[in-house]
Amino acid sequence: MSSSPAASHHWTLPASLYRDPENYEHERQAIFAQNWALFTWSKRVENPGDFVSGVLAGYPVFVLRGDDGVLRGFHNMCRHRGAALLASESGACGKLIVCPYHSWSYGREGRLVKATDFGSELSFDATNWGLLEIDVAEWRGLVFGRIKRGGQDLRSWLGAIDTMAEGYPLESQKYFTTKMREVEVDWKAYGENYLECYHCRAMHPTLCAAMDIDHYTLDVYREEGFFHLYAPKRDGGLTRGLYFYRFPYLMLNLYDWGSSIATVEPLGPGRMRHINWYFFQDVSAEKAEENQRSADWSAQIVTEDLGILLGVQRNLNAGIYERGPLSPKYEHAVKGFQDMVREAMGNGGGGLRVAAE
Ligand code: FES
Ligand SMILES: [Fe+2]
Repeated sequence: MSSSPAASHHWTLPASLYRDPENYEHERQAIFAQNWALFTWSKRVENPGDFVSGVLAGYPVFVLRGDDGVLRGFHNMCRHRGAALLASESGACGKLIVCPYHSWSYGREGRLVKATDFGSELSFDATNWGLLEIDVAEWRGLVFGRIKRGGQDLRSWLGAIDTMAEGYPLESQKYFTTKMREVEVDWKAYGENYLECYHCRAMHPTLCAAMDIDHYTLDVYREEGFFHLYAPKRDGGLTRGLYFYRFPYLMLNLYDWGSSIATVEPLGPGRMRHINWYFFQDVSAEKAEENQRSADWSAQIVTEDLGILLGVQRNLNAGIYERGPLSPKYEHAVKGFQDMVREAMGNGGGGLRVAAE
């Protein structure tokens, strides 16, 4: 096969974009910080004072339920000298959030209440030194955050996913378990892999045994920034698969047995954490074994994907792979994903350097 682009083909993105630190930093600002990202689930922050801390777009943040019942999000950063305010991953904070460094204290709504023992007179206006806020919103029991404030509200960002998934009992399902893995794989390589089933027959025997992958559909909602995959249950198979992928990396994997809700936390060029939560209708002790089997079945598919992607990333890093052609039959959504990347990065501007097609 010729390695020069043919007009009839779409091509993968240049390999350098999966390993270049400058490009990654641009992605962080132009993509990760601008979009809503899955952060936690509502049950974890049900009562005033409940918080969950984590990282969004590389920024340490936390969400906290206020005394007024409003869920807010803040940078996990004291305005004095930048210390992390909440060290644990989750819990309930006191009436005040007291910085562990010099004890500045903030109210649950983010106001600076006291610059403890700062000096005889506070030489600045405390109202200007509240916690730096991020956007937070809830949807059907899931909590999302966004670093850059303003812009599309969560529901419009989700677009038609909101109505397309409305028959699925998401909010009545209960949390069962988490699976997290840190891997040397770029977030884009993971997204592209998710968005084609060209590899399913070769790589996912248990997925193929469960679903009729000869009759799956994969639709690109280009303007709305999401993808929808649907696979019917195979005769005698395990489940249907109803999948939504909202760019850049929200994954709602909805099955008859429960849901596998996943996201990616990019950690650097060519590095990411895959975060996966499993929810079931019945999480009683009697169901524990069956639920674990379903979660393991789903996790196995991710394990298979990450296994091949580690090898892909090594070749991208090594500088041997440049780019390859995309299958017109199976990889149209990969092209759709790349279009979203290009558009978000501003083709021709910033760090994204894509060869003309
Ligand atoms: S850094 Fe928080 S009080 Fe000094
Ligand atoms: Fe896969």
